[in-house]
Amino acid sequence: MGLFKMDLIRGTLVLSPPYYLMALCIPLLPIVVLIVLEYVHRREEQVAPAGCRPFGLMADSRLKDQYDKKYEKEGTCGTTPDGSPRAEVKGLFVYPVKSCAPSVQPRLTSIRAEPQITFRIPFDPPRDRIKEKGYSTERMKIFADEPEALNMSAEIPANILAKLKYTLGVSNTFTLFRVDNEKRRDLFRCAPRKDEIGYQPYPLHLLNLASVRDVASKLGPTGPRNLDALRFRSNIYITGPAAFAEDSWKRIRIGSGTYHVACRTARCGLPNVDPATGVKDANEPSTTLRAYRCIDHGAGTAGPARVACLGVQLVPAIETAALRVGDAVEVLETGEHWFIAGGVAREEQDRRYYALKEKPRKTAD
Ligand SMILES: *[C@@H]1O[C@H](CO)[C@@H](O)[C@H](O)[C@H]1NC(C)=O
Repeated sequence: MGLFKMDLIRGTLVLSPPYYLMALCIPLLPIVVLIVLEYVHRREEQVAPAGCRPFGLMADSRLKDQYDKKYEKEGTCGTTPDGSPRAEVKGLFVYPVKSCAPSVQPRLTSIRAEPQITFRIPFDPPRDRIKEKGYSTERMKIFADEPEALNMSAEIPANILAKLKYTLGVSNTFTLFRVDNEKRRDLFRCAPRKDEIGYQPYPLHLLNLASVRDVASKLGPTGPRNLDALRFRSNIYITGPAAFAEDSWKRIRIGSGTYHVACRTARCGLPNVDPATGVKDANEPSTTLRAYRCIDHGAGTAGPARVACLGVQLVPAIETAALRVGDAVEVLETGEHWFIAGGVAREEQDRRYYALKEKPRKTAD
């Protein structure tokens, strides 16, 4: 008996019952395999490492639909009573290791390398842990500053550190440093200073999805097919305003907190690396950004030293503020901007800062 027989009269294909079932199941097989794989994979993802608690930041899903055409234009979140586009927080992200991928688990961070090496470090080690593990503190050189930072070597097994050092081709002393919360650098750019707002603020990075989509639309053929907004490693992704509206913001409200816009974000070459794969593209989006986003007088707008800007740095006006996905973003003040380059001595930063402050600002409200 064959697998099926032709019904010549009705011109249809008739399958005998057991084979009928089999034939029906064969095309389903890949689907079943995929479902099983998906299930197994999901189970793997859901197992949290010991001591790890998700922080509640939606790093995994909030930008899933970022390539949707609607984000290219303003007005994704409707309009405000005065008719201007409403802005809203779309996603919140943290990046526990500088220049590396975002994490949903900032309390405990996993770092992976190829061949697979995994180690875990506390995101924000409390004082007693620092003492117990015997972290050393060392002076680090960051542009013109030399803050003391925590040397986290004690958290990483020596054999793993050695493997990482070899994989990365590092010949210098190699370790992982962390900002010491008690010895933060003074940073202010154009924002109010510690003595004006009563605490040393540290910047958050805000990026408008429409601005990323605009850059994506101008990429040359060598650029990445989909420009992932996470390449720009922003903490707060918003939607609603037109592309680059954020360039002139000076003071904004997000939810119930007020934030000073310290400066535009002068971009380095790191967005050329795909955060999902770690693979570096041929100079994109850097080339495209430099072609039309060298807009900040302080960062440099002309000549070979010009620097492209995308996104803005915020400092909270009060020391503790809560941010939530879906929070409305309201522009309180727009005005002039001037990025003050790192590496400029403190006295010169002061001079430039106060010179800038004396210039009149345009207030929106
Ligand atoms: C960091 O600490 C380790 C010991 O925990 C030490 O061997 C190393 O020299 C320190 N400094 C650097 C830059 O690695």
